[in-house]
Amino acid sequence: MEVVIRPDAEQAAHLVAQLIAQALKQKPHLVLGLATGRTMERVYCHLVRMHREQGLDFSLCRTFNLDEYIGMPPENPNSYRFYMNHHLFSHINIDLRNTFLPDGMAADLKASCRRYEELMAECGGIDLQLLGIGADGHIGFNEPLSALRSRTRDKALTPSTIAVNRTLFKNPDEMPTRAITMGVGTILDARSALLLVTGSSKAEILAKAVEGPITSMVTASALQLHPACRVVVDEHAAVNLQAQEYYRWIFETEPEWAEFRKA
Ligand code: F6R
Repeated sequence: MEVVIRPDAEQAAHLVAQLIAQALKQKPHLVLGLATGRTMERVYCHLVRMHREQGLDFSLCRTFNLDEYIGMPPENPNSYRFYMNHHLFSHINIDLRNTFLPDGMAADLKASCRRYEELMAECGGIDLQLLGIGADGHIGFNEPLSALRSRTRDKALTPSTIAVNRTLFKNPDEMPTRAITMGVGTILDARSALLLVTGSSKAEILAKAVEGPITSMVTASALQLHPACRVVVDEHAAVNLQAQEYYRWIFETEPEWAEFRKA
């Protein structure tokens, strides 16, 4: 894992967008794993701006989202399909037929989850997986005790995730209690992973995920097993990290970060 600390949430999101843009320029056929949630909104804002101002090209890119609520049709403003169209896809030159999310409306959820895994494999696997972290340490909707080798499947959400996410619903009673999510094993198969964590409310869980033991109680801790995982955080989220001095030194001195230091 490599941890990078940026001064604030805006600069952390900007760096994540720059890393995605770099990957896309290096490989126009990039298979990009995407996440939703409040933290990602800033990243998508930057990507839209880079598309408009710098011509960042998504025309050959394919995307796979981590998760989708069960029983939520795509046209529902609370669905993750709606979120993705609203925050990103409608504003960039991506072919919507190249954008995939799990199908929360499928009659046969298990078959649809298997198909989602097959589709990722047919596209050559995920090159870069974007991730956020939940208050309970989840990545995707891999709630505590999710098997660290789990694959895409339907999953019951925890009461704490339901409590956090229902605040985003106009009618909180519409908040589903189940979702389809890529598994921890699916996420670990991505060739690279990029976790963005901002805000003081995430400081405690971030320290557990990055510097604590690997445990299915905090599924983000499984990223410690990933050979190419970058974690971008802001100062507020970083306060509990023990090795801050080292992380700052890496960003200031390693050549791979040189082009991002001046930004
Ligand atoms: C969303 C997802 C979740 C979120 C996490 C953080 O697709 O996979 O793991 O990344 O719940 O959400 P926010 O950013 O709203 O705190």
